[in-house]
Amino acid sequence: MTTQTAAALEHFEPNADSDAMLEALRRDAAIVIERLVPPGELDALRAELDPHLDATPYGEIDFHGNHTRRVGALIARSPECGRLAAHPLLVGLAEGFLGPFCDEIQLHFTQAVRIDPGESAQMLHRDRGVWGGYLTRKIETQLSTIWALDDFTAANGATRVVPGSHTWHRDRTPEPHEIVPAEMPAGSVLVYSGSVLHGGGANTADHNRRAVLLHYTLGWLRQEENQYLSCPPEVARSLDPELRRLIGYQRGGILLGFYSPPTAPGEGPELVDPGVLFDDTTS
Ligand SMILES: [Fe+2]
Repeated sequence: MTTQTAAALEHFEPNADSDAMLEALRRDAAIVIERLVPPGELDALRAELDPHLDATPYGEIDFHGNHTRRVGALIARSPECGRLAAHPLLVGLAEGFLGPFCDEIQLHFTQAVRIDPGESAQMLHRDRGVWGGYLTRKIETQLSTIWALDDFTAANGATRVVPGSHTWHRDRTPEPHEIVPAEMPAGSVLVYSGSVLHGGGANTADHNRRAVLLHYTLGWLRQEENQYLSCPPEVARSLDPELRRLIGYQRGGILLGFYSPPTAPGEGPELVDPGVLFDDTTS
């Protein structure tokens, strides 16, 4: 009889060496950083997001979950989520992981998720699928974060991850021992590549579990959530300039994403960085 070694996710303390985190990310395509958010900030996150989650109906398609509530536009709706998105450790990891493939990173997707009891497991998938199959697998397109607002357990729907599956042939299906529930205490964050298989777990517990999803991508790829509509200039004006640039109010390359206002003839300016909208001196 052969015994199979269960796959595992490497867990890090918040003050661990970020180069070691990046090394594990490149090897396994997923890690957990434990207890990065202090309890007081967790309470503030829950207070900002619960009214939105309570007022949002369940998803209408299986992929979104028939017992799962999802809310986007978090940069406009939740200052606390903005602080998470601009967290220096996570932005640094995203820049390190995606830097070989772009000049700038950008925020790609924001979502608060509450999985209620009775939810079934989400299909395992790779997030890079949003762009179809057009991009070579040699390019890492995305680094994603799932911040636990409650303890994540195998019973209450902890995200399931298949470490190392970023290098697999797309048709390979994981064996049960290769699927790891990302169990972690509230305030921790699961960090994973857009190339790794993962999916929400079934919630067989008697309580719901909440999370904040904040994903980063290459500055030259289209964002999954349209940040310019979800956080239009009149809202972005009140953001910290660093966060404003992160959601896309900057160029994604020397010429990419320039701005010309819809003004009268000769009123310009023409072909400028979107930062001029806000007098961003560093843009
Ligand atoms: Fe996903």
